[in-house]
Amino acid sequence: TVFDFGMIGLGVMGRNLLLNMADHGFSVIGFDKDSQKTGSLEAAATKGTTVKGVGTLEEMVQQLAKPRKLMMLVPAGKPVDDVIESLLPLLEKGDVVIDGGNSHYTDTLRRVNYLHPKGFHFMGMGVSGGEHGARTGPSMMPGGDKEAYDHVKPLLEAIAAKVNNEPCTAYMGKDAAGHYVKMVHNGIEYAIMQLISEIYDILKRGLGFSNSELHEVFKQWNEGELQSYLVEITRDIFLQKDDVTGKDLVDVILDKAGSKGTGKWTSQDAMELPIAIPTIDTAVAFRTISGVKAERVEAAKIYAPNVTPVSGDKKAITAQVGEALYAAIIFCYAQGLSMLHNASAELKMDIPLQDVVKSWRGGCIIRSVLLQDFYKAYSANPQLPNVLLDGSLANIVKAKQGSLRKTILSAVEHNIPVGGLMSALAYFDAYTTERMPTNLIQAQRDFFGAHTYQRIDKEGSFHTEWGA
Ligand code: 6PG
Repeated sequence: TVFDFGMIGLGVMGRNLLLNMADHGFSVIGFDKDSQKTGSLEAAATKGTTVKGVGTLEEMVQQLAKPRKLMMLVPAGKPVDDVIESLLPLLEKGDVVIDGGNSHYTDTLRRVNYLHPKGFHFMGMGVSGGEHGARTGPSMMPGGDKEAYDHVKPLLEAIAAKVNNEPCTAYMGKDAAGHYVKMVHNGIEYAIMQLISEIYDILKRGLGFSNSELHEVFKQWNEGELQSYLVEITRDIFLQKDDVTGKDLVDVILDKAGSKGTGKWTSQDAMELPIAIPTIDTAVAFRTISGVKAERVEAAKIYAPNVTPVSGDKKAITAQVGEALYAAIIFCYAQGLSMLHNASAELKMDIPLQDVVKSWRGGCIIRSVLLQDFYKAYSANPQLPNVLLDGSLANIVKAKQGSLRKTILSAVEHNIPVGGLMSALAYFDAYTTERMPTNLIQAQRDFFGAHTYQRIDKEGSFHTEWGA
């Protein structure tokens, strides 16, 4: 048999993506140095599909139809470079190599520039949706040269998640655009997770909700405008029991967040651009604060923050908190999408924002019904700098932002840390302020450093001998 597609690296993601391709009628071959992984690949294949596992790259490359199409799903960093070097002598001009891992976009750009003159197509592709998504329908964000994309488009569209019969994948732009879009996806993922955790804190410590009440609240939310993957899994988390103690599992999990770094990359790159994404920055910072558990325990003893019960009608407060979450989530997407808009121009990636949000509607971690609203906004104006400037979204925000304010006020009064919610609102308030107090900063800069300032009434830059 001549195979349609090859996968290098049969870890959880590689294996499941490959089996997904086979389920859609493609003949596939997988390589891994670990013979257990190649064996279990064949064993896990659906009956009647064509799946083969091999132990050397040579065997794989020899059996692929030309131009060869292959993907690597290996840990980001050096392993990707190592695979590329081993592949080089085996490939021919025109072959397409996709990196489907969470590589940093600057690495992808370097690899594109390294391989392009050699005649190979290299594509960076973000894949979202975890193990289950990979097997049954992920969201995929491929970028690179368009010619290479056309070779793999039918396959990617076949295996992607579908929303309204449309695949959750599309060409994301030039060079490293695929990995750039995935990086920002993860930044938004961090921010929404932070917001949900703060809302959980308000409901649990402030209002005294039990886990089963929390389950009910998130269940209800997931049936309305907040419907999204992250709200849905949060709903289910509150029902999970711990096998060991029989307690609710969420209560025995240590409050220290891990991270693989993609959220941090988003913040770092936003600073470089520059573009403001304060809620993503806050989400990264709060994971860091969560890490200094011992210090927090000590500080809690010194300051004994008194989380006093939030009083009032539980039902009304829950509704208000839900609206607050909804508004803040919109502000997170607005930040991430405006970052993509700016980065696309700055790095000449030509990222089609309407296709980005369309591909995010299903399969990925940040999928939500809101994406449909963003899709409408970008379809009407693909060059929209910020979704907050869209008329329909503005109407939604106007209706909900009051609840965000009230929720923050109450949280502050009750000593509940809500940095994500606060930064989301502060972003909105600053973005919608016609005249910011930044004139004063300019005056100070000119005062102490002769850095000059611009005026509101005439062109040019000016300096004043302050106090003279
Ligand atoms: C996805 C996820 C996935 C992974 C994150 C986890 O879209 O499927 O984003 O790629 O779960 O990288 O990131 P942290 O370990 O940094 O939280």
